[in-house]
Amino acid sequence: MVDQIIPRIIPINNTAGALAVIPAVLQKANSETVDRRQRQLRDLRISVTDRCNFRCTYCMPKSVFDQNYPYLAQDALLRFEEITRMTQIFASLGVEKIRLTGGEPLLRKNLETLVAMLAQVRTPTGQKLDLTLTTNGSLLRKKAQLLKNAGLQRITVSLDALSDAVFKTMNDVDFAVGDVLDGIEAAKEAGFESIKVNMVVKKGVNDHEILPMAQHFRNSGITLRLIEFMDVGTSNGWNMAEVLPSQAVIKQIDAAFPLQSLEPNYVGEVAQRWRYADGAGEIGVISSVTQTFCHTCTRARLSTDGQLFLCLFAHQGVDFKTLLRSGSSDVEIANAIMNTWTKRDDHYSEIRGSHTPTVNTAARKVEMSYIGG
Ligand code: GTP
Ligand code: 5AD
Ligand code: SF4
Ligand code: SF4
Repeated sequence: MVDQIIPRIIPINNTAGALAVIPAVLQKANSETVDRRQRQLRDLRISVTDRCNFRCTYCMPKSVFDQNYPYLAQDALLRFEEITRMTQIFASLGVEKIRLTGGEPLLRKNLETLVAMLAQVRTPTGQKLDLTLTTNGSLLRKKAQLLKNAGLQRITVSLDALSDAVFKTMNDVDFAVGDVLDGIEAAKEAGFESIKVNMVVKKGVNDHEILPMAQHFRNSGITLRLIEFMDVGTSNGWNMAEVLPSQAVIKQIDAAFPLQSLEPNYVGEVAQRWRYADGAGEIGVISSVTQTFCHTCTRARLSTDGQLFLCLFAHQGVDFKTLLRSGSSDVEIANAIMNTWTKRDDHYSEIRGSHTPTVNTAARKVEMSYIGG
């Protein structure tokens, strides 16, 4: 495999943010490299911190993420220069979209500086990357304008309910809905034109909040996306009985506000799109449990400490921090990425069971707060 790949890799400039000049024929070869299931590498999700100021019960339950939890030490985190260098290399290999995640990405000090660095990265054809961020919204009032000025293009805010009582039960740190809504308002004021809201639906916990959320975000220009509760990590106690299938979500909303289905914006889009028949905007459902989308999955994930994961549900990553810190050239790193990608066979959602394994099993999966959502 390695032999086939080496000639395809083209030298690119090591300087963070520099425009790589790549011969078209080689660039085409790179962007056509596929994994074992014929999927190209197109998206990179970068976790910039494994910490969060929320303790959502489905993601970082307090019982596991307490004061004794072994969060990463500062020097284990990829530095902004390292993240930017990796992004430039990924861009030269065909990645077009970058999503910054966490944990809560806005807890990473001076994140806007990283955004400004990533905004300089160009694809081989000179295009800007689609640069986006998923946040819990708690720090958006403070950060939205800085992020916009730095070149962030889109924002997705997580919000699981409109009722304070329900939301507080889910975030488990007594955080009020009004403060997240204010963060979303700040993003609008800062000039973000594409804002999405992610709602994780847990049956019996917040499914009665679906209609109030739909009502609230209709006519707002904001796209609400309803996500099936997933079995990420090993500590969120997932079981199938708590999953409300997207089909039931759509049925519920359609009965109150008639819906029409829409075509995907791009091949491999995670959300299925619907529009309100009366023109009040758009919603999406993400059915990673009941209607899996592994066959079009073009996503790689870079963890906070520089491990490359090829699936949200992977048990192990490939260490790129060591490569970055041991003097490897861009070409060597690019080779290592494509060598990893061509061996990829992950399709976890298609083969999952109906319970998460218990914490002490050898089949322990990495936590979402570390790998990025
Ligand atoms: P757009 O760029 O706006 O299309 O966003 P996105 O679809 O990438 O959405 P976002 O990052 O907000 O993710 C929405 C939900 O989909 C989150 O709960 C993610 O964890 C989940 N998700 C995203 N990518 C994957 C994936 O590759 N596999 C699975 N199973 N879930 C995913
Ligand atoms: N199932 C589904 N979505 C989840 N998220 C976090 N944990 C889960 C889970 N177990 C969502 C967050 C955020 C996005 C990155 O992933 O709410 O919106
Ligand atoms: Fe934090 Fe997001 Fe996980 Fe909630 S879902 S604990 S906000 S990283
Ligand atoms: Fe991609 Fe893995 Fe999610 Fe399937 S389960 S869509 S392979 S990240």
